[in-house]
Amino acid sequence: GGRQRLLVVANRLPVSATRKGNNWSLEVSAGGLVSALLGVRQFETRWIGWAGVNVVDEADQGALTKALEEQRCVPVFLDEETVHQYYNGYCNNVLWPLFHYLGLPQEDRLSCTRGLEDQFEAYKRANSMFADVVYSVYREGDIVWCHDYHLMFLPRCLKELDNNIKVGWFLHTPFPSSEIYRTLPSRSELLKAVLSADLIGFHTYDYARHFVSACTRILGLEGTPSGVEDHPLGKLTRVAAFPIGIDPNRFIDALQSPEVQTYVKELQEKFCGRKVMLGVDRLDMIKGIPQKLLAFEKFLDENVEWRDKVQLVQIAVPTRTDVHDYQRLTSQVHKIVGRINGRFGTLTTVPIHHLDRSLDFHRLCALYAITDVALVTSLRDGMNLVSYEFVACQNMKKGVLILSELAGAAQSLGAGAILVNPWNISDVAAAMKDALDMSEADREECHCHNFEHVTTHTAQVWADTFVSELHDTIYEAQQRI
Ligand code: UDP
Ligand code: G6P
Repeated sequence: GGRQRLLVVANRLPVSATRKGNNWSLEVSAGGLVSALLGVRQFETRWIGWAGVNVVDEADQGALTKALEEQRCVPVFLDEETVHQYYNGYCNNVLWPLFHYLGLPQEDRLSCTRGLEDQFEAYKRANSMFADVVYSVYREGDIVWCHDYHLMFLPRCLKELDNNIKVGWFLHTPFPSSEIYRTLPSRSELLKAVLSADLIGFHTYDYARHFVSACTRILGLEGTPSGVEDHPLGKLTRVAAFPIGIDPNRFIDALQSPEVQTYVKELQEKFCGRKVMLGVDRLDMIKGIPQKLLAFEKFLDENVEWRDKVQLVQIAVPTRTDVHDYQRLTSQVHKIVGRINGRFGTLTTVPIHHLDRSLDFHRLCALYAITDVALVTSLRDGMNLVSYEFVACQNMKKGVLILSELAGAAQSLGAGAILVNPWNISDVAAAMKDALDMSEADREECHCHNFEHVTTHTAQVWADTFVSELHDTIYEAQQRI
């Protein structure tokens, strides 16, 4: 008996390791995938993934494996070259931008890395390394749940090791229109590999629909309302939408803790009556941070009366810092922040408080709680959980959410937010003014709508729905034989 065993496989483990002398220190990893999955506790879970460090020495590997065991994590050790080609290269310089409609690397992005083909080979190799580790942990009856664009070959690798493994795959990013996807040189191989899964999940119906179209147009398979069918083999891969959520109680409970309440008081004193606008993003091209800053500049330009009454706090969590485009974005953002602070700052204040670092959980909760207006300006975003977390922390303040219509979250929180096209700087600037001027009654109505959604569409519900759909899919497949 006991709980269902679940093997969660993701490139990134929920904790990342760094060396501290002879020991390993483990810190919670950043990003929506990790924070959603940490909220899933109803299964007997093992994590399999990369710990974010290069460990060559065998004794070192042993020590890290041991430290991770306590967190129910099993490491996949990737050598430096593989990390460079697979993670920095194929995953984050090719698939990530492509899936977010930024296109394939142009020449300048290609010249500093090796060719796409080498990177694709490394990607496949890395996926089969993940498969070997999964298989060493696997017991009959386990569910293997593969996550994200890093591991599109994993379903195939696993089925080749044992065709009876129950395999689900979930994409945490958008899946783009087939017109974008079709530019990828390895488009067919990648689709075929992921179709080995029993169940494939996306955040929204649009992403699922785009995926099915890619399979019909590029592979010539048949798309049905329930998935993709491969006729000669009679195999059906189920494809569906499973919108992710957060663990809302983790935030709601934290707000009651003395620690968070102390931070709240400190922050309120620090900002002494000024309205606070907040951005929390990994420093990623898809988050539209320059667009957000330019809109804030325009807002300050146009609304002289607000200049000394509002503060923008931007938390920019460093991410994928070995990838060239991320380095370029960092300097671009710094340049804009510097200009705006130079233009509108006074001897004692600056309009933008910009941090290039992550915040611990309690400080983050306090910041969400004291914010008047949250700014999510993603140019594309699978879901965006920052918007959910903000809502969970706003029962006192009932602040306003400005949300990009190009984030998956626009489909769930759209009715309780001010939706904007982040490319339209004037529109975003106007939304900032509207948000600050919004009546209490309107704020209350928007917040209640969002809060209801965030507290019912949780990470736990998301995982339960996915796993039970996977069980059903496998049962139905057995009935068909
Ligand atoms: N986050 C974090 N460290 C921070 C600030 C935020 O780990 O210093 C978390 C945040 O709480 C959220 C996640 O990072 O859970 C971001 O998820 P989201 O879906 O918004 O975007 P992603 O980073 O996955 O693209
Ligand atoms: C997004 C991706 C995750 C990834 C996270 C952080 O949320 O969907 O797969 O883990 O960003 O990025 P990193 O490259 O540091 O793992």
